[in-house]
Amino acid sequence: MAKILVIDDEPELREFVVMSLELNNFDTVEADNGKKALSILEEEDFDCIVSDVEMPHMTGPEFLKSFREINKVIPVIMLTGVKDLNTVVDVMKAGAQDYLVKPINVDELLISVRKCIEFKKLIEQNIRLQKENERYQQHLEEMVDKRSVQLKDALFGSLIIIASSIEAKDEYTKGHSNRVRLISVDIGKLMGLENKQLQILEYGAMMHDVGKIGVRDAILNKNRSLTEEEFDSIMSHPSIGANIVKNISFFNPMIDCIKYHHEKYNGKGYPEGIRGDQIPLLARIVAVADTYDAITTTRPYRKEKTSIEAVEVLIEGKGSQFDPDIVDVFVNNRLYEKNYIHIDKAEAESGNIKPSTIILDDESSLKIFQKSKKDNSAEPYLHDEM
Ligand SMILES: [Fe+2]
Repeated sequence: MAKILVIDDEPELREFVVMSLELNNFDTVEADNGKKALSILEEEDFDCIVSDVEMPHMTGPEFLKSFREINKVIPVIMLTGVKDLNTVVDVMKAGAQDYLVKPINVDELLISVRKCIEFKKLIEQNIRLQKENERYQQHLEEMVDKRSVQLKDALFGSLIIIASSIEAKDEYTKGHSNRVRLISVDIGKLMGLENKQLQILEYGAMMHDVGKIGVRDAILNKNRSLTEEEFDSIMSHPSIGANIVKNISFFNPMIDCIKYHHEKYNGKGYPEGIRGDQIPLLARIVAVADTYDAITTTRPYRKEKTSIEAVEVLIEGKGSQFDPDIVDVFVNNRLYEKNYIHIDKAEAESGNIKPSTIILDDESSLKIFQKSKKDNSAEPYLHDEM
């Protein structure tokens, strides 16, 4: 049974409204002023409120204003003494659903009350649907996050497989790609790269030697000096790598690291002989990390050297082979004291090589990044001939 609160200071009128409602199967509660009504409303729920406008202490509009601050659902019908347009406008503005002009017509009262009860049901249904929608949205977001993490893990897993397959060709470079990744990310973080760039650096560093897939194993593992032809073959690996990944949109942003990690700061590197800032920043970082790791691990043509000896090579190559600022970041932050060989081994043994940076959220952010890079760069980012 619908429950109605009737507020009126005049007992006769209040009784008339109450009787009219009860005779039509409504349950009612009475209050002779606004304050009492507010305290009743703190305790009980109602389907509709019928309130007089003119009351001592607290007028109908004052009651409505206070009530709407705590409840926006229960509909209120105001009873006005005269059809004063200003009062009507005021009460409707204050949040009344309807108004009736005295003397009250019972039929009009019943129509208005029933309309208000339906209105309340609609509001409640709306609130319920809104909450369900919020719950659904939250669930959807959780599902998307979960799928996104799975996808990211799968992508990173495929990078590890690619890096391992390169290293399987060259017995001396086991773990090299992962160590170059770790060192590059450390440098990138110290240089304050933003997350998306850091992400591309991490993946690019992991993939930097992917082109070695196209170089014969016998050349990679040769422990005697190379012929000119063999040397040319090795020097082609950055271009081969760039060609391998150029048509795969996910790998596109990593082309810089793959193609230009053997360029030298003085322009005497390969494959293009570009110099200084012409060499993409991420490739300059990978160049330092790559060289440091190569020196500190054994190669077919020589034994490994100490981290201090490797630092000496980096410092000596400042401005000629390497970007001096990047070498400074590596040296001044004493990254050479970090045991990357140990970190890589521990990761490989635990089988838990995880990306250190936040992964690009989705395809669209990747596209935005590629676009902004194209727009902002004086150098063409992806070359047509590649
Ligand atoms: Fe390389």
